[in-house]
Amino acid sequence: MHCTREAAESIVWVGGSDRRLSLFENLFPVPNGVSYNSYVILDEKTALIDTVDSSITELFLENLLHTLDGRTLDYLVVNHMEPDHCAVIGELAGRFPELKLVGNAKTAGLLTQFFGPGLAERTLLVKEGETLSLGAHTLRFLMAPMVHWPEVMMTYDETARLLFSADAFGTFGALDGKLFADEFDLEQEWLPEARRYYSNIVGKYGAQVQAVLKKAAGLDIQSICPLHGPVWREKLDWLLDKYGLWSSYQPEEKGVLVVYGSMYGSTARAADILAAQLSGAGVKNLAVYDVSTADVSALVAGAFRFSHLVLASPTYNGGIYPPMLNFLQDMKALNLQNRTVGLIENGSWAPVCGKQMSEMLEGMKNVTVLEPAVTIRSTLSPDSLAQLTRLGDSLLASLNEA
Ligand code: FEO
Repeated sequence: MHCTREAAESIVWVGGSDRRLSLFENLFPVPNGVSYNSYVILDEKTALIDTVDSSITELFLENLLHTLDGRTLDYLVVNHMEPDHCAVIGELAGRFPELKLVGNAKTAGLLTQFFGPGLAERTLLVKEGETLSLGAHTLRFLMAPMVHWPEVMMTYDETARLLFSADAFGTFGALDGKLFADEFDLEQEWLPEARRYYSNIVGKYGAQVQAVLKKAAGLDIQSICPLHGPVWREKLDWLLDKYGLWSSYQPEEKGVLVVYGSMYGSTARAADILAAQLSGAGVKNLAVYDVSTADVSALVAGAFRFSHLVLASPTYNGGIYPPMLNFLQDMKALNLQNRTVGLIENGSWAPVCGKQMSEMLEGMKNVTVLEPAVTIRSTLSPDSLAQLTRLGDSLLASLNEA
């Protein structure tokens, strides 16, 4: 049985949610599931905007066939060739022999890589700004390379003033019967998972997202239809503002993310003492995570959110504690910039990871490491506690700067 919703007049959402998936990309926990969105435009010609992941193929086909109500499918616009959106292309090409695919030159190459020969020849190749008329609806194609694969494009329905934005403006999380962002509590239900989605999936490509935001600024957009998460028909400025901050690597909030690794509790104790100093001084935007138990995607999201980070790590095999190293490598790979960082190292006989963490941070743009870096030998001593307090004072002074 179908389960569809109208996204706009003559535009029907035919996607679905997967709540059984535990790891998106076999990498990121999705405790609230994930949606795969696909949209049908019913006009003189019919067009489908992207397909879905293989996990919801059966539901998707029921949705699509119900919506078409006996009509054929004339066009499949392929905005993104990642398998969570392109899995059903081969099936549709077989069901609708006259179906034309719409994509760009890079789409055609990926079609062949994923589905073998045959589909690229059925592809109507489009370039930046070109249009396709469906009758009343005119679609304009806007290239969005690396948001988040090289072939990505967005499709602007000039008639409905609606932007099909591919992965951009998406989020983790099942839709739970809702379709529109204004049906969610944005701060509680949408923002944390959208930030985690953006920072981990698209975070590396801030410059490319900025380029897309510039293109979007020149359009009269009434709604944004992403490939994951809700459709936006209200508060577009709020959404674009978040994307503006994330893609320019500016923090959303003045605040401190404390991430510690600790084998026997001493480094954790130092992190808690520092956090208590900050909280006691009135810092409200403050979060403390154990790097061994928190998923690194949540840590990355916190790093994109807050202005200040504290990294506290034991020395391990003459280096950085492995999960902390993983977090640092992730931040670097995702191009995080413009942060102020405090460092705490622990080492019972050779504390060296503070220097190594500092060197990794030097490779990131506009990251300032505060003085003093704290060195703990096994457990906090009066001397290292005094260092820790001075680091707390430095953080407070930095937070209070304009
Ligand atoms: Fe949701 Fe880049 O795929």
